[in-house]
Amino acid sequence: MSNRRSFLKGLSYSFAGLPLGSHLARLQSIDWADWADISTLYPRNASGLINFNCGSAGVQPTIVLDSVAAHQKALSAFAPYEVYAHHQDIIDHSKLRLAQLINVNVENIALVRNTTEAINDVLFGILWNKDDEVVISTVDYPSVWNSLKTLKKRYGIVIRTVLLDLNEDSEQDIVNGYRAKINKRTRLIIAAHVTHREGQIMPVAKISTLANAHNIDVLIDGAHAVGHFAIDVQKIGCQYYATSLHKWLSAPLGCGLLYVQKDKIASLYPPTSYAANQQDLIDKFTWIGTFAFEKWMTLDTVLDFQDSIGLTAKSIRLRAMSTRFREGLAEIPEIIFAGNQKDYGGITAFRIEGQNNSKVFSQLMDDYGFHLKKVGIQKVLYNRASFNLHLTDMQVDDLIAAIIEVV
Ligand SMILES: Cc1ncc(COP(=O)(O)O)c(C=O)c1O
Repeated sequence: MSNRRSFLKGLSYSFAGLPLGSHLARLQSIDWADWADISTLYPRNASGLINFNCGSAGVQPTIVLDSVAAHQKALSAFAPYEVYAHHQDIIDHSKLRLAQLINVNVENIALVRNTTEAINDVLFGILWNKDDEVVISTVDYPSVWNSLKTLKKRYGIVIRTVLLDLNEDSEQDIVNGYRAKINKRTRLIIAAHVTHREGQIMPVAKISTLANAHNIDVLIDGAHAVGHFAIDVQKIGCQYYATSLHKWLSAPLGCGLLYVQKDKIASLYPPTSYAANQQDLIDKFTWIGTFAFEKWMTLDTVLDFQDSIGLTAKSIRLRAMSTRFREGLAEIPEIIFAGNQKDYGGITAFRIEGQNNSKVFSQLMDDYGFHLKKVGIQKVLYNRASFNLHLTDMQVDDLIAAIIEVV
């Protein structure tokens, strides 16, 4: 692939001082246009189970695992804080690349540990008044709901709920659902970029346009978006964007990102231990105490790996695996898919009509060695399969064949 050379050059940069040279020969021999070959860059599960739940947390390529281990060793070989400080240029470089990845200014992003932390930095950072209103939908993530319920108890905010049925609602229905819930007291709209159960890509730019027209801020929960497909946060037009890098970007567990629009930084009071003179600075979100330094030190390798494949090619591949799965089951009348069957990427949820889908989950695991995730949608149980580059077409076909046998 055309950017392979820059990948290898980039690796030399992020490998500086690390004993990871053995990977270079392997990477030089990879056919970057061959997905089966690329899948060999991920570790094999010794148990033989095939992981179709890379949506909860991504599978890391071996090079990323080895990079974390090498950084961890380097940190302890001397003194962790001093070694980390010495790597500040690599962290800054990674931040710059992440800012480019979502098309924002680097001065508006902070590395955090995950989406939950990023969202709580915003939700617990806003100075709420009693009766301020927040609009959120039924397809948003439970922990976001939990935070809002705490804020309701603590400050008396009002939660307005948009009832969505993604099996039925058109894009216009979705936007209209939000429109119907806003009023003069609405301070914030929260919306998932990709829903965690159906895997549906939501019209977040249209929701933001609606909100901005009424001077309402928008917080996008992008847990499943970054590293999954191309994202332009400026185009979306939200004030806050939260994501995890350990899902679709396959970063080490405990890597996340928060974007805050420039004019919104100063008015947030996140639960971090920043100094008073940092009130206007994005860095205030990073004062979380000691954390796993080696994870952030590995981000450059993570981004090198993704660049070697190319995000466009990767996102086409993830959707193609999902499509292969949907098409492979399309003729089976008992199979019901969740969501609108149009706006999806590497996540697909399905159920088998007339069967106990909890039992289906166990059968797929125990009898066939396929691990999926159970998800409840409007009190009905589905099984969710998520597809990333550690998987091959053959494994997707094997999963299809197993489900047909179970039906
Ligand atoms: C939509 C959504 N938001 C937030 C989260 C929380 O992500 P994390 O555990 O990385 O903070 C998840 C996790 O799966 C999610 O699916």
